[in-house]
This record gives sequence, C-alpha cells and structure tokens, in this order.
Amino acid sequence: MSTYKVGYIIGRQSKQSVNRTLSKALIRLAPPQLTFTEIPIKDLPLYNHDYDVDYPPEGRTLKAAITLVGAVLFVTPEYNRSMPGALKNAIDWASRPWGDNSFALKPSAVIGASPGKIGTAIAQLSLRSVLGYCNPPQMTSPEAYIQFHPDVFTPAGDVLDDSTRRFLTGFMADFATFIARVRSTLPQLD
Ligand code: FNR
Repeated sequence: MSTYKVGYIIGRQSKQSVNRTLSKALIRLAPPQLTFTEIPIKDLPLYNHDYDVDYPPEGRTLKAAITLVGAVLFVTPEYNRSMPGALKNAIDWASRPWGDNSFALKPSAVIGASPGKIGTAIAQLSLRSVLGYCNPPQMTSPEAYIQFHPDVFTPAGDVLDDSTRRFLTGFMADFATFIARVRSTLPQLD
C-alpha cells in the first residue's frame, strides 16, 4: 500500500482556532497510509505581483513545502461568508510566479468548521472556486461542513460524538482513496 504525505493548511494560525482543533481530529482519524505536515501561512507578507521577479524567502518556503507533499488539505474558517484573507493570500503566493503554480495537479480536499449552522459552506464554495483556477484536482464528495461544538471536539482532537467521528473518519478514508486514484493517473507527480 502506498503512503502519501499530506500538507494541511489552516486558514487561521492561532492556537485557539477551532479549525486547528478540527485538523488534529482529522489527523487522528485518518488511515495509516496518510502522514501529515502543517504548511504554515502566518508569516507571509501580503502578496504583491512585484515579488514575481525575485520571490522572497517566505514565498519560497511556502512553495517548497507544497512541493514536498503529495496532497493538500485545506481546513478553512469562514470569514464574512468567504475564506479568511490570510488563506487567499497564501494561495496567491503559491500560485505564482506565472508558470510555477505549486498547486497544479496536486490532489486536494476542503473542509472547515465554524460555530454557525452552515459550518463554512459558503467559505468553502469561494475556496473551491479559487482552487478551480489553480488546478489542483479536488475531491468533490463528500463535502464536509462542520458545526463546531466544544462538547464534541476536545482541544487535543478527540471526537466525542459517534456520528461526527464516523463521518470524519469516512472523509479521510475517501481522501486517501482520492489521492491514490489521482496519483495513479498522474505518474509524473511521483
Ligand atoms: C467570523 N465568523 C463567521 N462564522 C461563520 O459561520 N460565517 C461567517 O461569515 C463568519 N464571519 C466571521 C468574520 C470574522 C472577521 C471573524 C473573526 C469571525 C465566526 C467564526 O466562524 C469563528 O470565529 C470561528 O472560530 C473561526 O474559526 P477559527 O478561526 O477559530 O478556526
């Protein structure tokens, strides 16, 4: 069985982020063929097209981190019915310079949590639309809009509710299958 390294990007970098807690849960529930490394985005300056002629170290570090993983998992909050600006900024950095898009053909999945009932559904729509242009093959199903309850997720990432745990376990199993399928049809990525 092949193993795959998944880079996960959390839309907010704070230790208090409910999406950081969700990512801990996802890592715990993932099948053993997936390993995880966080791709941090908090030190990125605001992207400016002028950087394309000579990418600064922060941008190079981000692109190198994405190059080193076999797939990307986006774990996004919802800010004002979209993804946080910090996440969009990171995507802009990774997608450039022109002709060197780090996301091209890299299998990806999107998930997110908020205390609200729609569980980042609208943020995920805008994120998926941006990713549609950046060209990572996206797992389109299952969708995962997680309403965050502190009595369901412990800070360490234990999931106390059976149906939520089953759902997240299935999501990660499906992501592993999706990664394997994409990578077997795109051998040049190996
Ligand atoms: C929010 N929040 C929020 N929630 C939501 O469901 N839909 C939304 O559009 C917004 N908009 C929004 C804007 C801004 C600027 C903030 C700071 C917050 C609430 C948000 O879901 C909540 O703060 C979560 O805790 C954010 O996830 P993280 O950052 O804790 O992972």
